[in-house]
Amino acid sequence: MIVHWLILFATVLILVVLYVMDDALRALSDRADGESALGPLRSSKRIAWATLVLVAVLFVVPKELFEPAPPQMATYDAAGNWSGADTTRIEFLDREQRELVLYGRELIRNTAYYLGPNGTVSQQTNGMNCQNCHLDAGTKPWGNNYGAVWSTYPKLRSRTGRVESVAKRVNDCFERSLNGTALDTTGHEMLAIKAYMEWLGTGIETKTKPQGSGIVDLAYLDRPADPEHGAAIFTAKCVSCHQDDGQGVKALAGSTYQYPPLWGDHSYNIGAGLYRLSRFAGYVKNNMPQGATWENPQLTDEEAWDVAAYVNSQQRPDRDLTGDWPKLASKPTDHPFGPYADAFTEAQHKYGPYRPIEEAKTSAE
Ligand code: HEC
Ligand code: HEC
Repeated sequence: MIVHWLILFATVLILVVLYVMDDALRALSDRADGESALGPLRSSKRIAWATLVLVAVLFVVPKELFEPAPPQMATYDAAGNWSGADTTRIEFLDREQRELVLYGRELIRNTAYYLGPNGTVSQQTNGMNCQNCHLDAGTKPWGNNYGAVWSTYPKLRSRTGRVESVAKRVNDCFERSLNGTALDTTGHEMLAIKAYMEWLGTGIETKTKPQGSGIVDLAYLDRPADPEHGAAIFTAKCVSCHQDDGQGVKALAGSTYQYPPLWGDHSYNIGAGLYRLSRFAGYVKNNMPQGATWENPQLTDEEAWDVAAYVNSQQRPDRDLTGDWPKLASKPTDHPFGPYADAFTEAQHKYGPYRPIEEAKTSAE
């Protein structure tokens, strides 16, 4: 681009000089025989004008015609955590792909506007946005981001006992976290979300999980997580946004939330990932109260576990989970519903302590 500007500047300069000379020669020719010099000067002026028009055209022609598009690129924070793909390069994708990626990102950010209770495309989700749980459109380090999605799917998931595609995994969140119904896997919305996930996966090798992706695994407590202590933390650190009744605050536009609900009819259902205490605690540890980051967390591990216990002891939408975890031995330790492959109670699986459960499992193997 800089070359264009230089040529433009030089041409304008030459034109100015030519005009000044023209005037000077005219003045001369009035008196002496300056006429003979005017001919070549006129053709120089024509050439200069033509150059100017050409350069102006260069500015209008899309730059990818004469500049090779830079490759799409992943970004990392100073500590080496994955932090999304470089958004300044989206514009270099070819048009169709770019539009899909941008629409996919838009659907992650403003899911409710398109698909919520008053959705403009369809009405099939609970009013939350994917971004409420997958922060910064799924790019925040340790913010439940999508860094490992494109590189690790399709993969065998023990919840179904089957190999699952990205589309199936996305629909899991539609049916559980957004307590809604699955998207048509061949529809425009799913294609856009997949295109966005693929673009986010730029530069991440197949089967690898970049540092900082997903949710952190907190160390287990030696005691059960304590909902009563959690209630006190909730009052001190969460009610200002999520409210006493956990119902959050609707955004002015009404189609979504400024502060999303944490339980009740409009929240995630009992089959959602966040309903497991380890996922909830790991998520809030690095992300809540709003503004917290992995570098600057605002809860201790204990507080995170206890507030998880409090929130996940409240009423929320039900879901039939009978098909889940066909192999009992693969059920996560903190899954709150039996049957289990061991004799520990549902209460201990839900709240812990988890270590005795895991030790019993390893000694049985
Ligand atoms: C209520 C919170 C919540 C909402 C809302 C939500 N998700 Fe999720 N999502 C989760 C949790 C929790 C996980 C599991 C993370 C884990 O197991 O570490 C997850 C996992 C995923 C994964 C798999 C990530 C991986 O690396 O395996 C994808 C893909 C995904 N969600 C897509 C979406 C999409 C698309 C939406 C919106 C339609 C959405 N989610 C909305 C909480 C949510
Ligand atoms: C300053 C306001 C604020 C405070 C305080 C706050 N949150 Fe949040 N919380 C938010 C916002 C905003 C989001 C959605 C983030 C987004 O969309 O980018 C959110 C999202 C969440 C989510 C995922 C979405 C959902 O509704 O399930 C959970 C879980 C959560 N917060 C838990 C907590 C807990 C627990 C605390 C207290 C330790 C807390 N938050 C304190 C503003 C806040």
